[in-house]
Amino acid sequence: MSKDLGDSEKPLTPHTVSARDSGRAQVAHGNGHSAVIRQSADVFREPLKAEQQASTAIRMSKLNAWYGDFQALKNIELCIPEKSVTAFIGPSGCGKTTLLRWINRMNDTVPEARAGGELKIHDLDVLAPRTDVVELRRRVGMVFQKPNPFPKSIFENVAFGPRLHYRASRSELADLVEWALRKSALWDEVKDRLKQSALGLSGGQQQRLCIARAIAVGPEVLLMDEPCSALDPRSTLAVEELISELSNEYTIVIVTHNMQQAARASSTTAYLFEGELIETGPTHQVFTKPSNPETEKYITGRLG
Ligand SMILES: Nc1ncnc2c1ncn2[C@@H]1O[C@H](COP(=O)(O)OP(=O)(O)OP(=O)(O)O)[C@@H](O)[C@H]1O
Ligand SMILES: [Mg+2]
Repeated sequence: MSKDLGDSEKPLTPHTVSARDSGRAQVAHGNGHSAVIRQSADVFREPLKAEQQASTAIRMSKLNAWYGDFQALKNIELCIPEKSVTAFIGPSGCGKTTLLRWINRMNDTVPEARAGGELKIHDLDVLAPRTDVVELRRRVGMVFQKPNPFPKSIFENVAFGPRLHYRASRSELADLVEWALRKSALWDEVKDRLKQSALGLSGGQQQRLCIARAIAVGPEVLLMDEPCSALDPRSTLAVEELISELSNEYTIVIVTHNMQQAARASSTTAYLFEGELIETGPTHQVFTKPSNPETEKYITGRLG
């Protein structure tokens, strides 16, 4: 439990900045990066507690999506629990990225893409035309397969979003950048080279920088599309540990082709096939006792 600090002593996080800016009642999250990284010998993460299962962050109902005439998602019914990791798995082309990209309306940029049905993040109606997409993307950050830092300094990569969204002073911004880099387990590696180009970092460091950039604006949800597929095993482990750590505070949705990763990193797994949600449930159950033979075929490598 974090100690109750006076306002002036409170560490600056996007949450405290936005609270100062907008006057909205928001809670500052802890005191920055915790050294405790979950190291479980178990293959599977612990099952979700009842209260986590009960609390849904993202709700999809009769969600359909098309690219022109091609239907890429068919009647998806899915509840994604809050503050935990949900994995989307399934063979190439089954619609994982499409589903992820509708959660923050990234598909708005694809002219022939359209979607219908219900997609809600808490009370926010994601697909409604009136929804403020800039604010939606602040609430729902995204990390891509290939690390994509801006061709700017390490500091500027992380400061970019907060500058866009908050009126923060220079020192507040510096605190916020440090907070996000610590939270992303990157601070110690970059603290002496913040002004150097982000492009000089290794792939694994760049991916953690992209995670720092995503959390710096105070999102509720982090979407990750195969975030480790371009990384070596050591960097993969670092990012997986980071995902585990971050899932205490953020709702994380990860797309992966790596079955071990889905088993290790997620609490809930959703299996998609040809645009349909075939099965969803606690990860250990989907992997050890899938209710649908199609899921078993995929997980055991007989499909895809
Ligand atoms: N911009 C687009 N225009 C037309 N069709 C598209 C577009 N993007 C994706 N699709 C099609 O939609 C289907 C789902 O694609 P999607 O990228 O969501 O699959 P995926 O499960 O993420 O696959 P992968 O594992 O290979 O990344 C595929 O048949 C794909 O060809
Ligand atoms: Mg994809």
